[in-house]
Amino acid sequence: MRVALIGYGNVGKAFARLLGSKHSSYPFRIVAIHTARHGTAYDSRGLSLHPEFGAPAASIEEFLDRARADVAVEITTLNPEGGEPAVSHIKAALGRHIHVITANKGPIANAYAELSADAKMAQVEFRFESTVMDGTPIFNNVRNNLPGVKILGFTGVLNSTSKIVLAAMKRGLSLADGIKEAQTLGIAEADPSYDLEGWDAAAKAAAIANVLMDARATPSDVERRGIGDITPDDLIDLAQNHKTMIPIARGELAAGGLRLQVRPEVVDDTDLLAGASGSSNLLLLHTDLMGTIGIISINPGVDQTAYGLFSDLIDIAKSL
Ligand SMILES: NC(=O)c1ccc[n+]([C@@H]2O[C@H](COP(=O)([O-])OP(=O)(O)OC[C@H]3O[C@@H](n4cnc5c(N)ncnc54)[C@H](OP(=O)(O)O)[C@@H]3O)[C@@H](O)[C@H]2O)c1
Repeated sequence: MRVALIGYGNVGKAFARLLGSKHSSYPFRIVAIHTARHGTAYDSRGLSLHPEFGAPAASIEEFLDRARADVAVEITTLNPEGGEPAVSHIKAALGRHIHVITANKGPIANAYAELSADAKMAQVEFRFESTVMDGTPIFNNVRNNLPGVKILGFTGVLNSTSKIVLAAMKRGLSLADGIKEAQTLGIAEADPSYDLEGWDAAAKAAAIANVLMDARATPSDVERRGIGDITPDDLIDLAQNHKTMIPIARGELAAGGLRLQVRPEVVDDTDLLAGASGSSNLLLLHTDLMGTIGIISINPGVDQTAYGLFSDLIDIAKSL
């Protein structure tokens, strides 16, 4: 299968390495890559890990028409408010009957219903497993393993960068030091204020609600509080009382409809939610038939995000 990448940063490069390492079993080929500042590269025989970029395609439409790929992988920078330009990239691919995979939560958080309707109309697949838990299966898990189950709500520890920053501050370091740690791991958003102000987690909460609870939410519908006003002293005081502060995302069906929230909460050190430290993620799904189910990933990194894209790609290949 011929694959076109829109974006070639941390995730794109990890995905290209993974495809290279699995090529003998899964002969997928990256035939085109489009970036914002580095230009565009094409080779129908397959591009190397370090392709030579030429002049940038004039538009996403020109890129897709020249790439002639079976699958487009959208992995550009997150824009939590509106999801552009990724929404337009995905619409352009679906409009050309190209399957789409994305790790970019912006489009799922802002335009999931519209994009999945476009995919249905074009009779192609639209997959996004890596958008919320860095490749750990949530959406595929529910779709494949929980038929007939209704998701009533969720509780999630979903933003790694905020946790890494809080953990650094608990050790007496500054917020800026914590951001640097997350950037070294390649997990901070290009604009880390999206992590610290809760936008990343709000986008994930909206994405979960849209896909699993049939909501029409956007990140702006999420009651949101970031970690900007928390000080190292607050965290050190809490630690002395065996408590910790964690950014938690919640979704619940209340009397007035669906309520979505993201905010730092204080929990006991022994609380299940406190177990998701470092870059670990945890999601509890509250269901009608299966009680509460937990999914946890221990310190996932960019290679796991790449795996989520790969798993979606294999699924699409199997469906053809
Ligand atoms: N990193 C993670 O661990 C992780 C985990 C889960 C999900 N994600 C999501 O995956 C996506 C990519 O993350 P990343 O860490 O790879 O980001 P990144 O390193 O900042 O790379 C972003 C890439 O997108 C390109 N780009 C930006 N705007 C573009 C546009 N308008 N047209 C074409 N290309 C454009 C950039 O081009 P230039 O190279 O020219 O700047 C760059 O190649 C984000 O949406 C992020 O939220 C990341």
